[in-house]
Amino acid sequence: MQIEFTASATAPLRASIVNAGALPVDLPAAVAQGARASRFAGKPGQVFEYFAESAGTVLRHALVGAGEPGAGARVRHLEKAGAALAAKYLASGEEALAIDCAGLSAADVAAVLLGLRLRGWRYDAYRTKLADDQKPSLKRIEVVGAADGAAAAWAEAAALANGVELARELVTEPANVIYPESFVARVSERLAGTGVEITVLDEAAMRALGMGSLLGVAQGSIRPPRLLALRWKGAVADKPTVFVGNGVTFDTGGISLKPPGGMEDMKWDMGGAAAVVGAMLALAGRKAKADVLGVVGLVENMPDGGAQRPGDVVTSMSGQTIEVINTDAEGRLVLCDCLTWVQAQVTPAAIVDLATLTGAMIITLGHEHGGIFANDDALADQLLSAGKTSGDRLWRLPLGKAYDKLIDSPIADMKNVGPREGGSITAAQFLQRYIDKGTPWAHLDIAGMVWSAKPGHSWEKGATGYGVRLLDQYVRSAVEG
Ligand code: BES
Ligand code: MN
Repeated sequence: MQIEFTASATAPLRASIVNAGALPVDLPAAVAQGARASRFAGKPGQVFEYFAESAGTVLRHALVGAGEPGAGARVRHLEKAGAALAAKYLASGEEALAIDCAGLSAADVAAVLLGLRLRGWRYDAYRTKLADDQKPSLKRIEVVGAADGAAAAWAEAAALANGVELARELVTEPANVIYPESFVARVSERLAGTGVEITVLDEAAMRALGMGSLLGVAQGSIRPPRLLALRWKGAVADKPTVFVGNGVTFDTGGISLKPPGGMEDMKWDMGGAAAVVGAMLALAGRKAKADVLGVVGLVENMPDGGAQRPGDVVTSMSGQTIEVINTDAEGRLVLCDCLTWVQAQVTPAAIVDLATLTGAMIITLGHEHGGIFANDDALADQLLSAGKTSGDRLWRLPLGKAYDKLIDSPIADMKNVGPREGGSITAAQFLQRYIDKGTPWAHLDIAGMVWSAKPGHSWEKGATGYGVRLLDQYVRSAVEG
């Protein structure tokens, strides 16, 4: 979608943003009556459409609700207004849409456009038989009468949209297309020219470093693993902010094989890695004044003659040994070596890891919040607040010694699973055993958030891009200051 800022509209489709209970004063009486009869009240995302003649031509008009003007959730409501326009007109046959932005601030305009861009994203790469009337038609947006600074505000928001869209694309791609090597290739191509420095470790490099935990997961697959590190140095800082993403490009469960029903969902078990990569693209795109290191561990978890067995003991890069009770609890086995590696590279200001780590997280929080576990209250509060501001919401869960004990092993330093109860918490405890003393750390279990069975606030059903906006907002408010 191409977005143009202009003084006057040419598109035959015209949208106006309408606050709750405030129909435009110049509305023809019959239209105002129609809007009221249709119970159009300017609620966020509500649309009322009409056709009217003007200077001899018939124009198609949409009134789109943005809720109460002073509401705390104003930005969300404006995004929802933009999203509603995308949902209604993306495949409507209309090619251009003019949005009347008179009276909106620059930030308001950017919010409407961000909602429109994000809700209008879809991935049709594998649809060869789409009927013409199902193909996206909307190609051009005219932003009419926007406040000074709106184009600059949109440029920043567009960088964020690029990051969200990259994360969605990686999550959407099937596992025969996106596997560790092709993930690296796709990301390298997208980040080329952004100023992000890229480092890749292959299997031999990881073996030399002693990453026996990550490699134990990878050994059942013919796809070799990779570790991908992305550095954005938009500021000089003595300690970089570190994001770590789990990238299991497909999780069959390994020898502890998952049941077939719904296993195809495990193509999105790299949602943590996708969020980190998307955030790095967004940060570089808007030239964030921060030093950020993103690390993702990429493996495929397969059952095979070479696969690891339940009961195997592996030695992680930290030297700690792990009894692999269940090969399906592999995400933590990948993350732990990434966590050790990154702390050997730099002294992090804080580490935030993201992973679709446990099904238990979905049972706990459903699809409304990601779970956050943290060893530092200030970091937890900053992330919770970034969650509220960005819309990628989080809910905090506990850590503690009594939970930690549950993963002690009779043969090794720890086992990779505890009992069924508190399964998301013991997974977090496992990761905490790899965090150096004094390093602020938060673990985000986003299993319920990266894929949506139904359309939401600013996404069509499918990949949501969850985590990109959260990390970008965290950098804005907690790192850039
Ligand atoms: N990737 C899964 C977690 C998951 C499950 C995410 C369903 C999204 C939807 C993870 O690797 C896994 O399989 N976890 C197991 C852990 C168990 C064996 C302790 C789980 O949650 O069932
Ligand atoms: Mn698993």
